[in-house]
Amino acid sequence: MNAAPANASMPSLMPIYRRIDLAFEHGEGSWLFTKDGRRFLDFAAGIAVCGLGHAHPHLVHALQEQAARLWHVSNLFRIEPLERLADRLVAHSFADTAFLCNSGAEAIEASIKLVRRYHWAAGHPERHKIVTFEGSFHGRTMAGISAAGGGRLTEGYAPLLEGFVHLPFGDHEALRAALADPAVGAVLVEPIQGEGGIRPLPPQCLEGLREACDETGALLVYDEVQCGMGRTGHLFAYQHSGVTPDVMALAKGLGGGFPIGACLATARAASGMTPGSHGSTFGGNPLACSVANAVLDVMLEPGFLDGVAERARYLRAGLEGLRERHAAQLPEVRGLGLMLGLKLAVPNLEAAAALRANGLLTVPAGDNVLRLLPPLTVSEAEIDEALALIGRTFAGMGG
Ligand SMILES: Cc1ncc(COP(=O)(O)O)c(C=O)c1O
Repeated sequence: MNAAPANASMPSLMPIYRRIDLAFEHGEGSWLFTKDGRRFLDFAAGIAVCGLGHAHPHLVHALQEQAARLWHVSNLFRIEPLERLADRLVAHSFADTAFLCNSGAEAIEASIKLVRRYHWAAGHPERHKIVTFEGSFHGRTMAGISAAGGGRLTEGYAPLLEGFVHLPFGDHEALRAALADPAVGAVLVEPIQGEGGIRPLPPQCLEGLREACDETGALLVYDEVQCGMGRTGHLFAYQHSGVTPDVMALAKGLGGGFPIGACLATARAASGMTPGSHGSTFGGNPLACSVANAVLDVMLEPGFLDGVAERARYLRAGLEGLRERHAAQLPEVRGLGLMLGLKLAVPNLEAAAALRANGLLTVPAGDNVLRLLPPLTVSEAEIDEALALIGRTFAGMGG
């Protein structure tokens, strides 16, 4: 319970979430435990945040070790864990340079500012428009909601930031037409839409986007806040297609539960980012960067990502089996790696509640989809248990 409200009509905790009445006391691996001893198999993972599960010993050690030495110094000084993290993100991606921040929204904000600054520095400040897609989600800052568009996120927040061109998902003609506008300076896209309902962009669409951007001189920006950091079985989702962006936003799984975000870019795209052009007090914080380095230690271990891909195939096969048996409720399984969506014919909120009552945590998404985002460390035995719970739940819902 919250502390006693000062005003009976307004709780002490601002009521912006529809919280489920469950409070977890601790977590271990793929499991969350309540004080009264109930345990839940966590296929939500903090919405694709706890990629290495709960209380991973290597992450706990890294945080404790750093906490005993140094919590914070300003970006006025060099920060060793930050420099190491930037080197490693650059070494393992398309990027030449990285800016570290504290969340996905800030990573998107940095990406948008970088795009504007790139064209400004190149003598084309008029190229300020950014193309985005219906169903996308880019965080809750004014720029993030303006980028995504759509009623629910933006209602009551006008005037929005101008300069975003919202296109239907997968409409190639509309994309060509939009990019013909000389004021368009970038395309911002999630290689796999998360909140929008686990909608992957096929590799040929990413190729088409890349070609179109190259033709017009627009920058291609990937939002891999949800689909990045090992979730699809590659370190980054774009690596499935090999189509590289100019800029990429990361967060969520990067810190395994510790708040951190990153904006990665090529040297060319970042050419406008000079001293004083952007910044963040906490961005690059030693605690956050030490944990992110520990996340990378695990994800870059030989065989780790192959193991993710293998367990993802196992889960997918099991889900396809359930789809055949419960087609009336579960007409489609979609997604990539361990970023999977169950497209439902029953209301996704009801299904999530029924699964929760049976001990499995999932995350609803748009398009009446239920997301399965287990820790990347989930075991085959845990996948078997989740599949059994899903089967039992759908059987109980009459299918
Ligand atoms: C694709 C994508 N971009 C951006 C964000 C915003 O991240 P954050 O909530 O850390 O600000 C999210 C969060 O769900 C996301 O899924």
